Amino acid sequence: MEHSRVIVARRSRRAFNDRPVEPQKLERLLEAARWSPSASNRQPWRFVVVTREAPTRLAVEGAVDAGNAWARRAPVLIVTCARRADGAVSEGREYWAHDTGLALMSLVHRAVDLGLLAHPLAGFDEAQLRAAVWLPDDVQPLSITAVGYAGRHEDLDADTRAKDERPVARKVLGEIAFSERYGELFEGSLRAAPERYFEADLGLRFRDLDAMGHVNNAVVVTLLEHSRLMIFDAVYGPVETLDFPFILAEITIRYRTPIQLVDRVQVRMHVTDVARSSFRFRYQLRDPRDGRVFVEAESTQVAYDYRAGHAVLLTAVFLEKLGPFVGG
Ligand SMILES: Cc1cc2nc3c(=O)[nH]c(=O)nc-3n(C[C@H](O)[C@H](O)[C@H](O)COP(=O)(O)O)c2cc1C
Repeated sequence: MEHSRVIVARRSRRAFNDRPVEPQKLERLLEAARWSPSASNRQPWRFVVVTREAPTRLAVEGAVDAGNAWARRAPVLIVTCARRADGAVSEGREYWAHDTGLALMSLVHRAVDLGLLAHPLAGFDEAQLRAAVWLPDDVQPLSITAVGYAGRHEDLDADTRAKDERPVARKVLGEIAFSERYGELFEGSLRAAPERYFEADLGLRFRDLDAMGHVNNAVVVTLLEHSRLMIFDAVYGPVETLDFPFILAEITIRYRTPIQLVDRVQVRMHVTDVARSSFRFRYQLRDPRDGRVFVEAESTQVAYDYRAGHAVLLTAVFLEKLGPFVGG
């Protein structure tokens, strides 16, 4: 999954499914943590993986606070700890907990990337946890992360459901980010959502179907290409093919449900990131009648001078015209 989507998709939800986590996936989480940065590359983090089958499991579950009882349902509990003496110290500043937090974030993001739910918790009894997993005295437990596949929200008890339903809130950017000196407001300009989405109907033809009876995967690439032409046409006006100033650098497509000939297919697209010479489109192909999403996709376009054969800067005129479609 694209990293920006991982950030948006990650949530500390509490409903877990009984489905076990594949050992290879667990290993991938730990690998993600292993490659995290740390001051002087000291890598102070340590993880104790406790699956449902582990002989230490019951004792770890017992260390979890009653208010976090939902975590006992998670197929895997990962105890994150660190030895203070393993961390770097710079002018008296200790980096062991800082760096272990970075590693846990990598682990959590990789979990989301692999379709897992990972919820860290600090609500545990330290003495019980130490005893449960035999932590040496100089190793500090920092959190337990419940890991597994998401379950049904309706299966949670009423109190836990209420916690899960609380809207996610964050401090505004001006509270956490300053410009030039502490306390000087950092002025943000990014919009959470675009002012406008580009929407257009895409007509399907019988020849778009394949032997499986649904719109062929490769045809979807063409539908997205056609969508780009339509939005460029709307933004720029008609352009000669040779003067077409972009080249496709990357495209990712997630096929969510097959498109049938009877479906009505509409593209809904906007721009996410704008750089000096490139920008990204995010698309949905959906049926506007019932909102079913067939395809989600993302692509990167680079402004390109075909005659000179190299990338060029996006023009101010183009950026201005594209402006309403940028957000998210
Ligand atoms: C170190 C740490 C400890 C946490 N401890 C708990 C906890 O004991 N119980 C709980 O339900 N959630 C716990 N959380 C989850 C936070 O409540 C959650 O991250 C926060 O409310 C923001 O919500 P979000 O993660 O869904 O964006 C913890 C998160 C972190 C990073």
